[in-house]
Amino acid sequence: MSKRMNAIAKAPFTGRISQLAQRLAGADGGGVWEVHERACEMAARGEPVCLLSIGDPDLPTLPSTIAAAIDSLERGRTHYAPGRGELSLRRTIADIETRSSGKPCDPDEIVIFPGATNAIYSVLACLLDAGEEVVVAEPMYVGYQGLFDALGVRGVSFALDPARGFALDTALVQAAVTAQTRVIMLNTPGNPAGNMIGAGQLRELADWCLARDIWLVCDEVYSMITFEEAHTSLRKAATVLDNIVLVDGLSKSHAMTGWRLGWTVSARPLADRLLDFTSSTIFGCCQFVQDAAAHALTNDEDYIAGVRDEYRRRRDYVCQRVAAIRGLDCEVPAAGMFVMVHVADTGLDGLAFAEALLAQGQVSVLPGVGFGASCRDYVRISLTQSVAAMAPAFDRIETFVATLENELHD
Ligand SMILES: Cc1ncc(COP(=O)(O)O)c(C=O)c1O
Repeated sequence: MSKRMNAIAKAPFTGRISQLAQRLAGADGGGVWEVHERACEMAARGEPVCLLSIGDPDLPTLPSTIAAAIDSLERGRTHYAPGRGELSLRRTIADIETRSSGKPCDPDEIVIFPGATNAIYSVLACLLDAGEEVVVAEPMYVGYQGLFDALGVRGVSFALDPARGFALDTALVQAAVTAQTRVIMLNTPGNPAGNMIGAGQLRELADWCLARDIWLVCDEVYSMITFEEAHTSLRKAATVLDNIVLVDGLSKSHAMTGWRLGWTVSARPLADRLLDFTSSTIFGCCQFVQDAAAHALTNDEDYIAGVRDEYRRRRDYVCQRVAAIRGLDCEVPAAGMFVMVHVADTGLDGLAFAEALLAQGQVSVLPGVGFGASCRDYVRISLTQSVAAMAPAFDRIETFVATLENELHD
C-alpha cells in the first residue's frame, strides 16, 4: 500500500453535518417535551398516568372516512399523485373556500401537503431567505420554532394579552416589524391560548402588510373547533388576496393527525412556487389519503358538530375544575383544544409544576415555557381526554396543589 493510501485510510471520519442539522439537533422546544416523554414511558410501564400534554385527539376518525380510504386502496389508488394534489380534493376545498369566504377560489390556488406542518414549512421556504424575519405571536405554537430553525430564519415575537383572553393588539404586531420582516404569521384560533382574531383586525393587518410588501400567513387548523362564535378566516376578512396565505388541515378538526393531510390557499403565483417546492421535496401525497380527505370534508356536518360539542364540554369541565382549585387560574378559551392554566400562585413556575405533578400526581401537562418565555408561569392542559378520564386526574391535581399550598403556608 502506498504511503498516500495509508494516510487516507487512517484519516479520522469527522462526520461533518450541515448547519441545518446542527440547528435542529436536540430541538425540542427547550426541554418542554421531556415531561410528556417521561409520562409516556410511565404509561408504557403500566402506571396509571393521565396524559394531558399532547394535542393528539382521542376521538376516532369518521368511520366512513376510513371506509373511503379502504375503498380507494382497493381501487388501486396507490400511485404517484399530481404535485399540486388530486383535483377532486382541491375542487372540494376550493368550493368550501368559495362558500365560506364569499370570494371565488380556484382549485389551482390550493396545494396539498402531508400535514399543515409541511405546508407551513413549504410556505416559509418559498417566502423567506436565511437571516430574514417572521413576526409571530407569543404564546406561539411550539412546532413553529423547528421550522424557523430549519430555514435559518428569525422568529420575532409580539405578546398576546393574557389579561384579555390572549387578545392580539395590532399595534404590537406592527411594532415588531423591521426592514428584515418578510412574513407575519398568525394562528387563529390559537394554540395554546384558544384566542381568536376578529375580522376587523385581520383586514387591517392584511391591508397594512399589502402596503409594505409583507406576506400575511394564517394557520387556521383549529377553525372548526370554536365554541361561542364562528371562526372568521383571513381569506374572508381580507379585501385583497395577493399577499395572504391560509394554512389548514384535517389533523385536529377531523381527528386525523396520523393521516398527514394539510393544504394552503394562496394566489396563483405563490401556489405555482409552492408546487415547484413540493414537487422537489415531497413529490406528491398519497392518493388514497386524498380520496379519504375529500370524503371527510363533504360528509362531516354532524361529525364536526359532535367534535365541537365534545371539546366544549371538556373545556367547560376543565375551566370549572381549575376555578375551584385555589392557586390555579385560567382564561376560558374561545376555541381549540387547550386551556392555559396560570400556576404561579402555587409557588412553582410551569416547568417545576409539570415535573412535580407528574412525579406526585401522575398527570402530565405541558410547561408553558415551550410557547415562549412569557408563558413560564403557565401549563397547557390538552382537552384530548374525555371528562370521565379527566375527572380522576383533576382529583389528583387538586390534592397535589393542596400539598403545595400547605408547604407554601407552613
Ligand atoms: C397551530 C398548529 N398548527 C399546525 C399543527 C400541525 O398540524 P399537522 O398535524 O397538520 O401537521 C398543529 C399541531 O398541533 C398546531 O397546533
